[in-house]
Amino acid sequence: MPLKKSLDLDYVRQQFPRQHWKWAFFENAGGAFVPNSVIERMSSYMNETQVQPGYPNPVSMKAAERMNRGHRLMSELIGADIDEVTISASTSINIYVLAQALRGLWQAGDEIIVSTLNHEANSGPWRRLQEFGIKIVEWPSSLDSTSLNVSDLEQLLTRKTRLVAFPHVSNVTGDINDVKAITAKAHEAGAMVCVDGVAYAPHRTVDVKEWDVDFYVFSFYKVFGPHLGCLYGKRDILLEAKGQGHYFFPEDDLAHKLNPAGPNHESISALTGIADYFDCLYKHHFEESGEGFFQRTQSVYKLIASHEESLARQLLEFIATKDEIHLLGGANSETNLRVPTFSFQIEGIPSLSIPALVAKDEVAIAAGHFYAKRFLDSLDLADKDVVRCSMAHYNTGEDVERLIQSLDSLLC
Ligand SMILES: Cc1ncc(COP(=O)(O)O)c(C=O)c1O
Repeated sequence: MPLKKSLDLDYVRQQFPRQHWKWAFFENAGGAFVPNSVIERMSSYMNETQVQPGYPNPVSMKAAERMNRGHRLMSELIGADIDEVTISASTSINIYVLAQALRGLWQAGDEIIVSTLNHEANSGPWRRLQEFGIKIVEWPSSLDSTSLNVSDLEQLLTRKTRLVAFPHVSNVTGDINDVKAITAKAHEAGAMVCVDGVAYAPHRTVDVKEWDVDFYVFSFYKVFGPHLGCLYGKRDILLEAKGQGHYFFPEDDLAHKLNPAGPNHESISALTGIADYFDCLYKHHFEESGEGFFQRTQSVYKLIASHEESLARQLLEFIATKDEIHLLGGANSETNLRVPTFSFQIEGIPSLSIPALVAKDEVAIAAGHFYAKRFLDSLDLADKDVVRCSMAHYNTGEDVERLIQSLDSLLC
């Protein structure tokens, strides 16, 4: 039962270091702020348990217990079991290692479909497999459609397709793709999917079982946590994949076989702070109930989504009145269609110059290709860079108003 109908922004902001709120910060798709709970967990680990975990002495056992808790809670966050979840340095490394682990299952002539909309992290590692005779099939994107089209995919799938690599949400356009439908289509053809959820996970609930995805990746530092990447994989495929760690690591140690670097202890332990944060939001906004952690976060994400929708609407309404601003992506703020990440170009002003121009108003935005270079290069744009304003649930309507005023002041 909700105690509050909408997200209490004062309460939300109290959970983070106060100094963040001076500027209107819109570079959240690059990396999000972390709540105090994460900072405290990281600090206690380093203060109290910075030893090699898992040995029979109290400090070492506590260290292992703390790491295990972070790992388990983050698995629950996405509806997965702990042994299906690899936590390593980043999404880029996770996909790179995954591609190496899967290539032994494939033969020369097998095909991988790669969406042009991808961040390079879910593109380059698959393309590298061309060296081993794997054929890459491009799944192009244009600005005519705001999301990936399942019927386009249907034309590309063949008996030889082994995997489809695509983003859940583009980190440039913010448009949401229909993961469940795309995954079902790939499965019909006997192919698996690798979904990049980095731009989605900070905004909506991830439910890997409901979508039946084979691999789903995202980065904790965009989901209010430390610099780590998360890779979910279906148990039976992880078992088959070739381990990438030391030769004596068991092939059935699923949660570790795809992390050759070894875990970052203090950061994994600090992941529990993300769960603390979601739980404190839950307690503040809902009457306590016997719900599990996954259900509690779903309830919190619903509040987040509706707050984000109102922020998105506010910016989109402004953009709709300005002919000089060319938005890439959908202009509908609905929660099932987009997350509040917006990229655009402004007529007559080079994109790369715009962040410095709005900084005078203490507005933080970014410009560039955001590693979705293949997508931007594939479009018919004179300027190959875009301005990106990306929101998180802790942004306020006043932040958006400051952004609007600042952008407006640049237009003649
Ligand atoms: C959509 C998307 N995918 C992948 C990545 C790469 O994540 P990581 O920095 O964890 O390698 C990013 C990083 O910005 C991203 O935005």
